[in-house]
Amino acid sequence: MSETETKIASYLRLNGGQPLKGEVVVHGAKNSVSKQMVAALLSEETSVLEDVSLVEDVEIVSEMIRAFGGEVEIEDRKVTIKAPELKFPDEATMIALGKKSRIPPLACGPMLARIGRAIIPMPGGCNIGRRPINFHIDALRLLGATITEEECSFHLDAPEGLKGAKIALEYPSVGSTEQVLLSSVLADGVTELSNAAVEPEIIDLIAVLQKMGAIISVDTDRVITIVGVKKLKGYHHVALPDRIEAASWACAAAVTNGRIKVVGARQLDMMTFLNKFRQVGGGFDINSEGITFYREADELKSISLETDVHPGFMTDWQQPFVVMLTQAKGTSVVHETVYEERFGYVEALNTMGAQIQLYNQCLGGKECRYAGTSYLHSASITGPTKLHGAEIKIPDLRAGFSYVVAALAAEGESKLDNFAVLYRGYEDLPEKLKDLGADIVEVG
Ligand code: EPU
Repeated sequence: MSETETKIASYLRLNGGQPLKGEVVVHGAKNSVSKQMVAALLSEETSVLEDVSLVEDVEIVSEMIRAFGGEVEIEDRKVTIKAPELKFPDEATMIALGKKSRIPPLACGPMLARIGRAIIPMPGGCNIGRRPINFHIDALRLLGATITEEECSFHLDAPEGLKGAKIALEYPSVGSTEQVLLSSVLADGVTELSNAAVEPEIIDLIAVLQKMGAIISVDTDRVITIVGVKKLKGYHHVALPDRIEAASWACAAAVTNGRIKVVGARQLDMMTFLNKFRQVGGGFDINSEGITFYREADELKSISLETDVHPGFMTDWQQPFVVMLTQAKGTSVVHETVYEERFGYVEALNTMGAQIQLYNQCLGGKECRYAGTSYLHSASITGPTKLHGAEIKIPDLRAGFSYVVAALAAEGESKLDNFAVLYRGYEDLPEKLKDLGADIVEVG
């Protein structure tokens, strides 16, 4: 059994009402580590990534690297990747991996650079909207790949390698920006990517690529310029701590009226979250080890917020934050502008006693891409409401953590089914909850 394969629970039963107190440590972010593992495939040399979170996505990417003939060793949170030669992977394996995670499509750049052909499985991951990959495909075409669409995959050819191009993204998509970075570093010539995403995880990927020998500059206007190089070296890097997990613990501290020190949380990557957290009545102390979160105000206050690309409020912070808003006085408004269907989870919160209503309008002022559509992408949350325990099936990763937070705040027992989903992004969650004093009845 590998180090990331912990015993996976299918459900969690817990009694709410205990303030969570103590310390948790966040390690390298799932959404950063996975892409940096893919970057290692760009080189024939060995790469080492330290302090990774031992989550299921790391296991999935390791499996993918092995399907390319590479080796992955994980010891003490240190991932060592060797891929001196890359072989074309088995199509069925790639399709199966693509159903479990969003990462396999990103291996396209290394495959095209080192084998001249690639396969992109139709993407999987969380059930939070359509999540197409049309921007990836369009960008790869502009970089010179010939692409044919099959039933469950795209096949790509670039026998002479890719060529630098000017690419403008319709929306600053994280995955598409990473796709262009990983595909153009070894392309011939210069690539100019405009309207790029500039999340900290992307900047950290650029840092890794720079260590490997890439030449990449990021301008103030979301333009990233990549000067293609002929060869890349291996890298040694310490992974970026998970700011989504850190924010999730912050919400759990405020909702349960507890106090959680999140070791590894970084202020610079969480500034927008910290502002909103403080506006609602959350408190935090920052030191060199991390951030301690608690409830500052006796009564939490309602606010208006919208999710956005960086430096906006992350869509992945939204769900536990909404649970916190169920405990705030007055009516809060949350406008989700990144994904069209990221409020599916609120129905279950309403069955626990929350008062959340969904709207297809853009509440809060700004018009987003979903204006005029039928997507229920705005929410009004009226509080404070008493939450009570319930039996809930977890639909996706971030919604799952919000149910954990709601169950912690609720009166009585809750049973969270499909708990295994949470292992994709949160390491040792039942153990961490127990250590913080949660009254966990059963994990099964
Ligand atoms: N989009 C397109 N076409 C594309 C690509 C994206 O229309 O080809 C749209 C998406 O449908 C979405 C928006 O653009 O509406 C943003 O998608 P983006 O590409 O930025 O998201 P992603 O790369 O698929 C990553 C994270 C998500 C996180 C988003 C936004 C990973 C593996 N996933 O997804 O994390 O919400 O960026 O920050 O890095 C999670 O961790 O639970 C999670 C969903």
